[in-house]
Amino acid sequence: MPVVTCIDDLRTLAKKRVAKAIFDYVDRGSYSEATLRANRADLESLALRQRVGIDVDHRSVRTTMLGQEAAMPVGLAPVGLTGLNWADGEILAARAAERFGVPYTLSTMSICSIEDVYGGVSKPFWFQLYVMRDRGFAAALIERAKAAKCSALVLTLDLQIQGQRHQDLKNGLAVPPRLTLGTAFDIMKKPGWALNVLRGKRKSFGNLEGRIPDAKSLTTLSQWIAGQFDPTLSWKDVEWVKKQWGGKLVLKGILEPEDAKTAASLGVDAIVVSNHGGRQLDGAISSIRALPEVVQAVGGKTEVWLDGGIRSGQDVLRALALGAKATLIGRAYAYGLGAMGEAGVTRALELIRAELDVTMALCGLRDVKQATPGILRPA
Ligand SMILES: Cc1cc2nc3c(=O)[nH]c(=O)nc-3n(C[C@H](O)[C@H](O)[C@H](O)COP(=O)(O)O)c2cc1C
Repeated sequence: MPVVTCIDDLRTLAKKRVAKAIFDYVDRGSYSEATLRANRADLESLALRQRVGIDVDHRSVRTTMLGQEAAMPVGLAPVGLTGLNWADGEILAARAAERFGVPYTLSTMSICSIEDVYGGVSKPFWFQLYVMRDRGFAAALIERAKAAKCSALVLTLDLQIQGQRHQDLKNGLAVPPRLTLGTAFDIMKKPGWALNVLRGKRKSFGNLEGRIPDAKSLTTLSQWIAGQFDPTLSWKDVEWVKKQWGGKLVLKGILEPEDAKTAASLGVDAIVVSNHGGRQLDGAISSIRALPEVVQAVGGKTEVWLDGGIRSGQDVLRALALGAKATLIGRAYAYGLGAMGEAGVTRALELIRAELDVTMALCGLRDVKQATPGILRPA
């Protein structure tokens, strides 16, 4: 086994093992990918202050998210098709998160269903909801999440209508995966991936079972799914979801202070500053650039988290410095899963925690909760 020292190593391994169409689905962004790149570039441009002469023995990176203990300020973001990177990937990722002590969010667009994951873990996980045109279906998903004892609902607001990822079209991404002339050569080079994914409980969208019309490929399936997202989704509907759910509610996909204020006024428990990892509005600003204004607008009324471009503990500390209480990671753990299954997700979490611990200490902090803008150099 190669020595894995950073998230990029997991990405390299995942690229070697996972079918190209699935790897690219994880890795790439929408349209010109300007926002995808900005998420990384803007994080990297933030310089940390190196401080010396401070006792940094006895450190802690622990925190709380929604009042729940977390081993570090990092949760697993909802990632569609996780279970095509590794058989039963959602169950494995949820288990890795549970053992590590951080929250896991199951996507509506997962391969394993809510019930599959419920059966595979022993502590509550979170469920991410896409509101579909069929409100009866949205209500049914909420009830299923309740029955599975999910401890928070993450409502995604930035995908009322789908952005296009050119590479998915070029690759002919299909769910369940198909063997075509175009994909055969790639899949032949990846027999380990193919045999593993074939063994999985499911190969298609577990939560949508019984709802999907007979479709042989994502060309038709994706058209069908694209037609299911509700473009009329408004703040009124957010109130409706809040009422239906009745538990901890997180709104994901907020970039603008105006929207953050509205969200906070609805009394939600957290908001996620996010541009969907550069997969939706191409040309939107990076989430790290959007963060300070959102934090200011919300004025402590709700927890503010950030996702988009987090690949290291250094990135987590940068987000905390600019006012995020916590972060979510998408690709960082998906690469880990694609590389080595559950062990890879655990490895991704361990890497980020170790980097966060050392970085915090070298900035002169003993506790992550002490991070302030003062640990960053002005631009
Ligand atoms: C492959 C992939 C699938 C995703 N699927 C979903 C999804 O089903 N629901 C959702 O709310 N966000 C989804 N997202 C967005 C993530 O929850 C998160 O916002 C994003 O990955 C953060 O950026 P990062 O990947 O740079 O960490 C997905 C992201 C990726 C990479």
